Amino acid sequence: MKVLAIGDICGKIGCEFLLKKLPQIKKEYSIDLVIANGENSAEGNGILPSSAEMLFSAGVDVITGGNHTVRRKEIFDLLDENPFILRPANLPHSLPGKGIALVDMGYTTVAVINVLGVVYTESMACPFETVDEQIKIAKQAGAKIIIVDLHAEATSEKRAIGFYLDGKVSVVFGTHTHVQTADEQILPGGTGYITDIGMTGVKQSVLGVDKDIIIQKLKDKLPVRFINATGECELNGCIFDIDKSTGLVTDIKRLSIM
Ligand SMILES: [Fe+2]
Ligand SMILES: [Fe+2]
Repeated sequence: MKVLAIGDICGKIGCEFLLKKLPQIKKEYSIDLVIANGENSAEGNGILPSSAEMLFSAGVDVITGGNHTVRRKEIFDLLDENPFILRPANLPHSLPGKGIALVDMGYTTVAVINVLGVVYTESMACPFETVDEQIKIAKQAGAKIIIVDLHAEATSEKRAIGFYLDGKVSVVFGTHTHVQTADEQILPGGTGYITDIGMTGVKQSVLGVDKDIIIQKLKDKLPVRFINATGECELNGCIFDIDKSTGLVTDIKRLSIM
């Protein structure tokens, strides 16, 4: 089966670009399941019911999240109600939502797990132990294919967790840095891995935000309000070809579509 993972969708402009491009990509590459990171899909960051709706209507099956998912309270009810909108599993238990989605594909159940890294980010429950717990839940539910969105800053932590999960899950793909890495590979145990799949939004931006605002923030150290950039968009992602019988990856293709 072919799974497409799409990098952090940034703002309304990113949602609209996805809406324009995804139907054709799904057809062209015969995609069976689409996972997209939606933590920045709302204008002004976070995710809102309206931006989630845009992602689903574009053809996304599971929306994963990150450190910005719980930024907007308006999404809290949906995090509890919709089984296909995730927030990282290692956020505090007091918050709404869950970090695992189970998708019934007919021939098997696919589990999608979302977890936050802790290096150079806010401290959270251990990502290694958290993923182990979620894998247990996935296996109890009969999932033969397990896909992990590892939302983290440090490449070292992402690589380490990738190797830790090698052979235990089908795919580990990284998100959060919004910059696509060129290290897509099948690890020795058969797990498909990439450190970061990139982002979907304005190409000439800093992580989707207007570049001049970020220059001002970093150079003059003044507080700024983030405004999404405008201009030509790009969709970044990665396609994983997974053997249904072994649950392991046979091919990986990085996508970067203008
Ligand atoms: Fe993001
Ligand atoms: Fe993030």
